[in-house]
Amino acid sequence: MTPKPVRPILFSGIQPSGNLMIGNYLGALKQWVALQDQFDCLFCLVDLHAITVRQDPLALRRRTYDFLALYIACGIDPRKNAFFVQSHIPQHAQLAWILNCFTYMGELSRMTQFKEKARKGPENENAGLFDYPVLMAADILLYQTNQVPVGEDQKQHLELTRDLAQRFNGVYGEVFAIPEPYIPGIGARIMGLQDPTAKMSKSDVNTYNYIPLLDEPSAIRRKVMKAVTDSGSEIVRDPARPGISNLISIYASATDEPPEEVESRYRGKGYAPFKRDLADALVALLEPIQARYRDIRDDAPAFDALLRAGAETARVRAQRTLDRVHDAVGFVLAG
Ligand code: TRP
Repeated sequence: MTPKPVRPILFSGIQPSGNLMIGNYLGALKQWVALQDQFDCLFCLVDLHAITVRQDPLALRRRTYDFLALYIACGIDPRKNAFFVQSHIPQHAQLAWILNCFTYMGELSRMTQFKEKARKGPENENAGLFDYPVLMAADILLYQTNQVPVGEDQKQHLELTRDLAQRFNGVYGEVFAIPEPYIPGIGARIMGLQDPTAKMSKSDVNTYNYIPLLDEPSAIRRKVMKAVTDSGSEIVRDPARPGISNLISIYASATDEPPEEVESRYRGKGYAPFKRDLADALVALLEPIQARYRDIRDDAPAFDALLRAGAETARVRAQRTLDRVHDAVGFVLAG
């Protein structure tokens, strides 16, 4: 029998907050659909992380299902990948505790995301927010993860994860794999429609700045037509003109066309026709995803079964690492 090839382990965590949007799809999900046979992928809905800011309980539960349904609707196959909810696997919190004892206050105080969140919401500067990166490190290290797809904003957290893993291994031997950032080769970096100098965010308060995957065609068209463009009228990418450059990337990525081709096709045509076609392309892109989502979303028992299966797989894998950690630090193993 030929042994099964060992695929690199890819761990991706996503907070079930805000609305999954085209930036998530074009920048990440679409690439993973293509990569699901090359990687051993774990998709984790990180609800423990989500409650570091106040969540409405009903909305949090609904979003957890929404996100799962949308991932599947986007083509991530639950038979090939493990989907699970972070709070179903107690090992995440258990490992986070142990890693806490190897993390310095100074390190956590330097995390830019913590400083940013504490500045924006000083009334909710809770210990969970401070400790967030350690829980994230636990998520990653529990599964002997090799690759972690992370955006710019999470690089510092991944760096800390690597430091903690190396520190722990330095004391106890090779307990953890050292994770690398996964840089998608072709993933588009989608910027906001109203502020094209900042990445499009699924939790933006300005709904005109992003397009959720579940937006109605009329909303998609309205937002695209209102997207900021720069002075001038040429459809070309230019660092001095972030608005139109971003719309060209979105178009190219949504239609799988090289951006140069998009530019040459719209030479001399002006913004309005280009934006109309871009809106059409996005409506066409999202239509089958939305249809599939509607087909599956209401089958709660199917999702529960899927999450149960995902949790079973994840729990076994997580416990294997946790046992090694407990053994390493000198705990008496539970018999
Ligand atoms: N902090 C990540 C974010 O906000 C979410 C996350 C939690 C994560 N745990 C993770 C991402 C582990 C990658 C790996 O985007």
